[in-house]
Amino acid sequence: VKALIRYLRQGPDGVIEAQDSDATVNELTIGSAADRQIQLIGREVGADHAAIRASGGKLAIACRGRFRVQINGKSVASGSLALGDQIDIAGHKLRLFKPPAGFDVAIEVTLTSADASEFENAFRTDLDKTWLSKRSGAWLLAILTLLLALALPLQSVFIHRQGKPTPIPSVDDALWSAGPLSPAHELAAGKKCSACHQQLFVHVQDTACRDCHRSVADHIAASTQALAHLGTQQRCAQCHREHDGGASQIAVRDDTLCVGCHADPGASFGSIPRKLGAVSGFARGTHPAFSIQLLKPPAGSEMAALQDWVQSREPLATARERSNLKFSHQQHLDGARVTRARDGGVLGCADCHTLENDGQHFLPVTMETSCASCHQLTFDPNEPTRQLPHGKPLDAIYVIEDYFARKYSDPTLPVKKSTQARRLPDKEIPTDLADVCTGPSYICANRRAAAEIENQFAGRGCVSCHEVQDSHAKDIQERFQVIPVHLTQDYFEKARFNHRAHAVQKNLTGDAACLSCHKAKDSKESSQVMIPDIGNCLQCHSNRYVKDQVTVQCVSCHSYHPMAIMQANSQEQ
Ligand code: HEC
Ligand code: HEC
Ligand code: HEC
Ligand code: HEC
Ligand code: HEC
Ligand code: HEC
Ligand code: HEC
Ligand code: HEC
Ligand code: HEC
Ligand code: HEC
Repeated sequence: VKALIRYLRQGPDGVIEAQDSDATVNELTIGSAADRQIQLIGREVGADHAAIRASGGKLAIACRGRFRVQINGKSVASGSLALGDQIDIAGHKLRLFKPPAGFDVAIEVTLTSADASEFENAFRTDLDKTWLSKRSGAWLLAILTLLLALALPLQSVFIHRQGKPTPIPSVDDALWSAGPLSPAHELAAGKKCSACHQQLFVHVQDTACRDCHRSVADHIAASTQALAHLGTQQRCAQCHREHDGGASQIAVRDDTLCVGCHADPGASFGSIPRKLGAVSGFARGTHPAFSIQLLKPPAGSEMAALQDWVQSREPLATARERSNLKFSHQQHLDGARVTRARDGGVLGCADCHTLENDGQHFLPVTMETSCASCHQLTFDPNEPTRQLPHGKPLDAIYVIEDYFARKYSDPTLPVKKSTQARRLPDKEIPTDLADVCTGPSYICANRRAAAEIENQFAGRGCVSCHEVQDSHAKDIQERFQVIPVHLTQDYFEKARFNHRAHAVQKNLTGDAACLSCHKAKDSKESSQVMIPDIGNCLQCHSNRYVKDQVTVQCVSCHSYHPMAIMQANSQEQ
């Protein structure tokens, strides 16, 4: 028989709630025991009170033992049932109704609310019937609980703190655990709960986290925090939950966390020094245009050593860079003007830019790896194999002076005429001063060296790539200074960008993909900044779901804790 049982209960708000269950059985048992198909609770309900069976297409109810039921108000021990009949068992009402398709029997059960004592009555709950007295049982249990759940684990805390294992591993403070730790912490702290719970019965303190996470910096610098109207910093544990098995190691990756503060900086940021634009999302009009971080010599002192250069924050749209290296992408990417020394091919981005393992940055471009194959540091056209050392101006000057001193004093060294055409359109200098110099050889050598040094730093040598300062000093060794080169590696101080994820841009691959973001073919000078602004990113991204776009969150691009590599290093010392 396939039976539908519909329980009707009066909810706390007075509304009748229906709950259906079904059973396929030979007979529907009724009683207060938990294994009855229809369980009714009440003093007068027997554990096994009655049963409904189908026989010959008709339904009948039969009571067990001395129990009785009322059918349509008449008290009986058994009887046949018809649709609409109402059965009454200790106040509970059962009614047969027309079974819906697929069922043979349908019973509606209206329960009278049983009070707790009646509920207990359904089970054997009295201690009186056991050997244990109520009082002694309670004491025994309480003591056991305290011993197992408090004293032993507590003892284990102290044993752990001495760095020893606990005698009974299953009865240590892990018993107090609120759930499995995140995998990283399971490995790092394991059973040593005190790594985080340093004081018993006190919330996890930030100092516990910082003991291990020394390099994690606050989102807002302490000095700024004092100026902003933001209240106190949140505890680490408010954002980083534990004991849920790593499901939410970082509980808050949600944009709302960030937007809560950043949507209205005027209201919440008080008088912090850097005026931040309002950010309420990453879409047109909700996120400010980008600005970049550049290192520049302090105003008025072009020659300042690199360590004295200062950070300057500039809107990307108008920023100009000071790398002090002369270079034109346009020129070098033009196959009609520049070809690879090795195979005559046109230069590609990868000839000079190699992605680092982090996927974001490129290895620094150097003279040696990216330029030297074409730009040799020759200085005597008659000796095209002789080259100057790179990167050390004074050494270069010594090499030039020594070279010519030897050349002019050695009568056996023939002065060769240059025949080899140079690859670069360097300015021709008088190649054979010996022809015109008639004085003593050391004077001729010095003059020749001075002319070459001047050529290198003010004519066509080092100066073709470098900004050189000429002090016009008498002493040639002190006259020129190469202004330090600084190539920016990280334009976004506060944001990350993954090049690997953008190796393909829509249908563009290789250099064409690079060029869709970096207008390198239009860049004639290194001062031009080719980093794309927000408009480029918005072609493909939004922080909300938009068809055919990749959804990004604030934390896809920004890290909440500022990178604090410097701080980490200084703390290690
Ligand atoms: C990596 C740090 C860490 C370790 C290790 C750790 N917990 Fe926790 N635990 C937390 C954090 C965070 C909370 C959240 C409490 C809060 O908001 O301060 C927490 C909460 C709890 C709570 C809930 C009570 C409360 O303070 O909210 C219990 C119980 C608990 N931990 C037991 C343990 C036990 C037992 C162990 C050792 C097996 C353990 N924890 C190891 C970080 C840790
Ligand atoms: C016993 C040392 C230890 C303590 C104490 C500790 N951590 Fe960690 N935590 C680690 C290690 C180890 C890792 C994994 C390596 C890493 O990411 O630096 C980690 C990783 C994390 C991560 C990153 C996980 C990921 O998926 O990248 C977060 C977030 C974190 N811990 C927060 C906390 C917080 C909050 C506390 C304080 C409640 C805390 N930790 C206490 C050792 C510790
Ligand atoms: C409690 C408020 C608050 C919350 C929450 C907050 N910020 Fe900030 N944020 C600030 C303040 C204040 C500053 C300025 C800090 C300073 O100058 O030292 C700031 C600075 C920044 C900056 C650097 C701006 C710049 O150019 O100097 C970025 C980027 C940023 N927040 C992004 C985020 C992201 C992403 C989140 C969410 C994961 C977030 N913020 C959550 C208050 C908040
Ligand atoms: C011959 C070497 C060379 C080749 C080839 C080359 N670059 Fe560069 N690139 C440099 C040098 C040198 C710098 C640093 C000087 C500067 O800022 O222009 C640089 C800087 C950059 C910068 C950061 C500076 C800025 O102004 O934005 C980007 C972006 C860049 N290159 C993209 C490209 C792309 C894209 C290609 C290929 C289409 C390419 N480069 C090919 C040498 C090269
Ligand atoms: C979706 C746009 C996009 C594409 C495609 C792209 N870049 Fe970039 N590139 C950026 C952004 C944004 C930055 C600034 C990131 C930063 O400095 O944090 C950048 C920075 C650079 C830099 C200067 C930073 C450094 O580390 O030297 C170079 C060089 C560069 N890209 C070369 C390339 C090359 C080569 C390709 C092709 C393989 C390429 N980019 C593809 C957006 C792009
Ligand atoms: C594949 C060979 C090749 C490589 C590699 C190369 N260059 Fe060049 N470069 C040339 C050629 C050829 C010219 C002259 C082009 C012309 O006159 O149109 C030139 C011109 C220049 C000029 C202009 C010189 C002037 O006097 O007008 C500068 C500056 C320069 N290169 C710098 C660099 C730097 C810096 C690098 C390395 C980052 C580099 N080049 C890498 C071939 C190369
Ligand atoms: C073809 C272009 C080119 C020529 C020519 C050139 N350099 Fe450089 N120079 C570079 C590049 C690129 C860098 C930056 C990366 C590096 O250190 O290689 C640089 C860096 C330097 C630096 C800074 C080194 C440092 O460690 O900070 C000095 C100093 C220097 N060059 C001196 C010279 C002198 C002196 C000459 C002439 C003998 C010269 N350079 C010729 C391209 C050139
Ligand atoms: C032509 C479309 C296109 C443009 C333009 C573009 N992106 Fe993406 N971006 C993508 C795609 C596709 C992915 C997903 C790649 C993946 O899942 O590997 C992605 C992924 C990302 C991610 C998350 C992936 C990660 O691993 O970090 C960030 C963050 C991101 N882009 C930032 C930017 C920024 C910033 C710009 C602008 C400078 C930009 N994108 C421009 C197509 C684009
Ligand atoms: C696709 C990458 C990306 C996403 C997504 C993104 N940002 Fe930015 N954001 C940037 C870049 C790039 C900058 C400029 C670089 C910098 O300031 O260092 C920036 C700058 C900022 C600044 C400084 C603004 C100013 O006035 O200079 C704040 C604040 C900021 N973002 C907050 C947020 C918040 C909050 C979200 C989430 C709603 C968010 N960002 C989403 C890439 C992103
Ligand atoms: C307001 C929320 C918030 C608070 C408070 C907070 N964090 Fe985070 N934390 C984050 C978010 C969001 C990330 C993930 C952002 C990202 O990917 O860079 C994160 C990432 C981390 C990471 C992963 C590595 C990293 O640097 O990105 C560690 C470790 C961490 N937090 C430790 C701490 C510690 C320790 C404290 C307390 C001193 C703390 N956090 C307080 C929100 C918070």
